[in-house]
Amino acid sequence: MSRRYAGETCVLAYSGGLDTSVAVAWLREALGFEVVTCTGDLGATGDLEAVQRKAIQSGAKKAIVQDARDIFVRYFVWPALQAGALYQDRYPLATALGRPLLAKLLVDAARAEGARFVAHGCTGKGNDQVRFDLAVGALAPDLTVIAPMRGGMNMTREEEIDYARRHAIPVEATKKSPYSVDENLWGRSIEAGVLEDPWDAPPRDVFAWTAEPDEAPAKAVEVVVAFAEGIPVALDGVHLEGVPLIRRLNELAGTHGVGRIDMVEDRLVGIKSREIYEAPAALVLHQAARALESLVLTKEVIRFKARVAQEYAELVYNGLWFSAHHQDLATYVRSTQRFVTGEVRMRFARGTSAVVGRRSPHSLYQTALATYGKGDAFDHKASEGFITVFGLPLRTQARTQALWGEGSEAALEIPRKALAAPSAPAGTKRSAGAKRKR
Ligand code: ARG
Repeated sequence: MSRRYAGETCVLAYSGGLDTSVAVAWLREALGFEVVTCTGDLGATGDLEAVQRKAIQSGAKKAIVQDARDIFVRYFVWPALQAGALYQDRYPLATALGRPLLAKLLVDAARAEGARFVAHGCTGKGNDQVRFDLAVGALAPDLTVIAPMRGGMNMTREEEIDYARRHAIPVEATKKSPYSVDENLWGRSIEAGVLEDPWDAPPRDVFAWTAEPDEAPAKAVEVVVAFAEGIPVALDGVHLEGVPLIRRLNELAGTHGVGRIDMVEDRLVGIKSREIYEAPAALVLHQAARALESLVLTKEVIRFKARVAQEYAELVYNGLWFSAHHQDLATYVRSTQRFVTGEVRMRFARGTSAVVGRRSPHSLYQTALATYGKGDAFDHKASEGFITVFGLPLRTQARTQALWGEGSEAALEIPRKALAAPSAPAGTKRSAGAKRKR
């Protein structure tokens, strides 16, 4: 397959790391491509000019770099926050939200360069390859995606370093982290190395954004987060744009040891994997947003929106950002945010984050209805009739079906005998004594 693409241009999603730098040289040398790199800074890239220089040194004929932080926050992070999207109820999806944007930048660059090929440095085991491939497919189905790390390049880390040296690609002297790390404004994802044993507690060197809770300041700190229609707009009364607001909260909550997640998650490719995340701002903002919603949304919306949140998280995780399903769910979510304006008081102390206050001009909370003190406006007498009607089906069933007995402990038992024994799978024999007792 040597140099079979000679004369073609391939735009490579480029991080500046060893893998993608080697990929630049390899796409050129082994496949014959002219390589253009495309780097979007989502908040963790650092020196964009240095990245650009390194791409050129690695053999790119052109290196496109872009600060995409504002776009990331506005079109990806805030909508996911409004939706309440936490994968498997915990992961705020930093990496998963970044990929569709990087794919969009890649497609735009391919169009600008007249390229028919795009490439990324994902391996064949993770979710990120799916997200890149699906996003490119949804935006530009005519483009061909190449993933050298998934097949073709086949180099170990040592071979990559060797290859880099031979191609005059700068290899950082610093020792490589023993983990695989992906970072952007919304969070830091850490996997592999000793983390692969889910029983072992994460060592301290895993964490870069959050203090050890027992070494965090003893004194708690409070911050007031203001929202306008579900979007964070100020901290302690000071208006802030999205990027600085998230950075400030990462810093403040992280200093107090808030923002760590240790979980075993289910990858789309069927693998269970142990993941550590640091996402101080994301966790705090999700917590604050839900607290404000508890004040202004009706209970039906709270209930239904939680289901939408799960569905939304799933589609983001699975790389379906650019789908009709996403547009439909996002439309619902946006409608729910009309009244999500107000403030939430958060307190951080030694690894914990707590909501300690909330208020909104659209609050449905009525002290006169809730109070057990003076000024109670709730009609206690009206409860009788309400309960009579609400309990009618239960009383009817008790009279005709006698579901729950009286007088003995056995009467508390949930009946089991309705459960039929499952039929045996084909090819297996069930022993005679295998009947279920009781
Ligand atoms: N498991 C997370 C996800 O699928 C994080 C992936 C981190 N990616 C990486 N290249 N280290 O979103």
